[in-house]
Amino acid sequence: MVRKIHVALIGYQFMGKAHSNAYRQMQHFFSPPALPVMKVICGRNRAGVSTAADRLGWREWSTSWEEVVNRPDIDLVDIATPGDTHLPICLAAAKAGKAILCEKPLANSLSEARKMLAAVRQGGVPHMLCHNYRKVPAVALAKELIDGGELGSIRHFRGTYLQDWSMSPELPLLWRFDQRKSGSGALGDLGSHLIDLARFLVGEIRAVSGLLETFVKQRPLPDQPTRKGRVTVDDASLALLRFANGAVGSIEATRFAPGRKNYNAFEINGSLGSLTFNLERLNELRLFLCKDARHSQGFKDILVTESFHPYMNWWPPGHVIGYEHTFVHIVHDLMQAMARNQPPSPDFQDGVANQRVLQAIQESAQSRQWISLRPR
Ligand SMILES: NC(=O)c1ccc[n+]([C@@H]2O[C@H](COP(=O)([O-])OP(=O)(O)OC[C@H]3O[C@@H](n4cnc5c(N)ncnc54)[C@H](O)[C@@H]3O)[C@@H](O)[C@H]2O)c1
Repeated sequence: MVRKIHVALIGYQFMGKAHSNAYRQMQHFFSPPALPVMKVICGRNRAGVSTAADRLGWREWSTSWEEVVNRPDIDLVDIATPGDTHLPICLAAAKAGKAILCEKPLANSLSEARKMLAAVRQGGVPHMLCHNYRKVPAVALAKELIDGGELGSIRHFRGTYLQDWSMSPELPLLWRFDQRKSGSGALGDLGSHLIDLARFLVGEIRAVSGLLETFVKQRPLPDQPTRKGRVTVDDASLALLRFANGAVGSIEATRFAPGRKNYNAFEINGSLGSLTFNLERLNELRLFLCKDARHSQGFKDILVTESFHPYMNWWPPGHVIGYEHTFVHIVHDLMQAMARNQPPSPDFQDGVANQRVLQAIQESAQSRQWISLRPR
């Protein structure tokens, strides 16, 4: 029998929309042994959240996450709010025995992330972190190729996540520019995705050398545009990486790269070949294999839409998918894991490991020294 998982979603804007769409769409294409029921959506503003409930397909709405996470008819709490709210919502939800899906980065600091991991362990509840780019079919295929030894020993990871939306100094001091709300800037927002991809595809990171920069240091206050407030996060972050398996790497995350909209791209070089991926062409994976005959050597574009490719339960080959589908795959994997009583992936342990790297990059940027991360 198919199990029903009753969901409470906290947050109804960008990620709220992406997650709502995923809960709605998943069962039209996949048949895991558990299915989500879109029970209640939560936000701070009555008018905003009630409209969102109607538009996004939720049965009920609420302005109190405290009330929602304690409802006996809720199985899963989905945290799609700014970073400063992740810890309190998680602690309450874990105490109430709810499964938790949390947006990235897991928390605003390593100590908060550790508290969240301890809480879900103590509550014995399933926990998943929404690093959705692992769920792009081309990225999942890259993982299969690397794990299958096609690239040989991995030597380089080169990741860049470039955007340009915050270049205008007229853009107000949104929560993303406030360290107390977001933890960090481009580093936690975009760099955390690169760190997750690097850990997923290459392995654990053992040392970092980081650099952070803030180009626009003051911005207009959202409710008083004639006054300015201080930007307390980085606009750009860079880091050199050493991996436990001997590979080396670099990551660069910025919101100040004109023309780059959501350029989440990486190249991986191994002893037997290379592969490259760019989210703005997410149905494709480019692969170079040294073993190919000389006359046919070169990067080839794999169109990752065949039914035998990961997650490709969508359309006939060549009928491409997009950004929103990665969240459907997250929901699918979570439902499957919950129904089978298996741990979903990535989880809060990945969140803590990610946060250790984020913190090390911040420490390194401040001290201008390499920071080592001991194995755990
Ligand atoms: N996985 C991804 O690719 C991805 C992309 C963007 C954002 N994110 C992450 O998702 C989270 C949310 O980001 P966003 O872009 O959706 O932000 P957003 O500003 O678009 O939406 C935030 C939502 O949180 C709600 N909210 C804020 N404080 C609240 C509170 N105390 N109680 C109830 N609701 C509250 C707001 O009403 C709003 O609906 C962040 O952790 C962010 O880093 C992840």
